[in-house]
Amino acid sequence: MTSKSSKTTTKTTVVILAAGLGTRMRSKQAKVLHRAGGLALVEHVVQAARAVAPAARISVVTGHQADAVEALLKPTGVSFARQVEQKGTGHALKCAREVLVKADPEQTGSLMVLMGDTPLLSAATLKRLQEAQEQDDAAATMITTTLEDPTGYGRVIIDSQNNVQAIVEHKAATPAQLKVKVINSGIYIFKSALLWKHIGEITTNNPANELYLTDMVAILNQHGHVVKHMHIDDPSELLGINTRVELADADRIMRNRKTHELMLSGVTIERPETVSIDTQVRVGMDTVIEPFARLVNQTVIGEDCRIGQGAILDSAQLADRAVVEAYTLVSDSRIDPGAQVGPFARLRMGAQVGPEARVGNFVELKKTRLGAGAKSQHLAYLGDSEIGERVNIGAGTITCNYDGVHKHMTKIGAGAFVGSNSTLVAPLEIGEDSYVGAGSVITKEVPEGALALGRSHQIVKAGWAAARKKKVKTPG
Ligand code: UD1
Ligand code: CA
Repeated sequence: MTSKSSKTTTKTTVVILAAGLGTRMRSKQAKVLHRAGGLALVEHVVQAARAVAPAARISVVTGHQADAVEALLKPTGVSFARQVEQKGTGHALKCAREVLVKADPEQTGSLMVLMGDTPLLSAATLKRLQEAQEQDDAAATMITTTLEDPTGYGRVIIDSQNNVQAIVEHKAATPAQLKVKVINSGIYIFKSALLWKHIGEITTNNPANELYLTDMVAILNQHGHVVKHMHIDDPSELLGINTRVELADADRIMRNRKTHELMLSGVTIERPETVSIDTQVRVGMDTVIEPFARLVNQTVIGEDCRIGQGAILDSAQLADRAVVEAYTLVSDSRIDPGAQVGPFARLRMGAQVGPEARVGNFVELKKTRLGAGAKSQHLAYLGDSEIGERVNIGAGTITCNYDGVHKHMTKIGAGAFVGSNSTLVAPLEIGEDSYVGAGSVITKEVPEGALALGRSHQIVKAGWAAARKKKVKTPG
């Protein structure tokens, strides 16, 4: 299989190091599973890697919560290598050797190493790195950047020819080296053969007693090989996530990128800094998104829609011209063309609102399909129901879908009118064009075109109030 990249001819294999716990996150969860921009950190890295290699040539080194990391990434088609004990980034790469050799016994191409905790890198940057390595024909090329505050990163020691001599980890750096602001991004591309030839020379001779992959640079130099670097001006792409503060930074950067991209593609976003949109969400042209809206997971929104202030759409499908008014929650549900939902409505678990239908304030729909042009404008719970076209559901209508053991269906035929404050005890069918009188408790089928009343008769006693006043004397 050949790599997707057009300009390069050398085969590139990618290894993503993702076995560490990430102690500085202070979490029970492996660091690479923490989410930013709606995806786990390592998912972003795999996505970027796809620009330089097909999934069959991408390997992820797992260790902490390996099962969870592998389950998450399995659908992408990448392969895995296990690092059972985390003895450093050099050791992690060594653990991948067997899997890589199995996939490609010759190991003649290049090997790109990415860190599972560096989720902001762009596909374009990785392609540029691949091309730079091919042009220079160096033993390795690494990505560097300059940081005002380089705390925690490896410092890059560069010679007068602009070649890299060594990387010095923060913990091992001398006071003079600590002043260096050019840092190691943790992203490298090596000539595979040279890497495997010398990787055994990495030692644990450092304060952390780990096998540092960064030592490879000095080792290659010792053998007379040249290591180049590709310096990137915008360091935001290279942010490595070690703490939750950096996680929030990455999340903010990704969401900013996302709103930017959407605005440039024709979406209006009011106060974009307040909305929260996951990386994978899609939004059509001329849709307007109001402040504080939240669009997450597999949400897809058509053209000319409006998403009201504070609305939360979680795996919601909105067709063109759909409107979600303020403070409405939509999860795993669909809204058809021209339909309006909210404010303060809730759709969940496969609810569907038909074309031009209306769902108003304090209405909840669960596993319910509302037909074209149907209306439920205020205060209702409609669960496990099929509601036909043009049906009107009065305020306060409740489907009693649960008998304490099972859930039951309610079917309401097209054109029916359900009066306010009706209690519909499922399983129940209400025929087309029928009427249910307000305040009814309906337990039996209502035939097509009928009127059903399920309430007690009203009694009127003329003059009763005055009679009572006479009878009940007020004290004093
Ligand atoms: C590393 C680099 C540092 C660089 C920085 C960039 C080393 C020794 N240092 O430091 O020069 O500036 O990244 O972000 O490489 N991992 C494993 N197995 C291990 C250890 C780590 O798979 O035994 C994985 C982690 O899951 C993580 C990545 O490698 O995804 C980086 O590890 P981390 O401990 O965060 O390295 P840094 O200290 O940030
Ligand atoms: Ca890191």
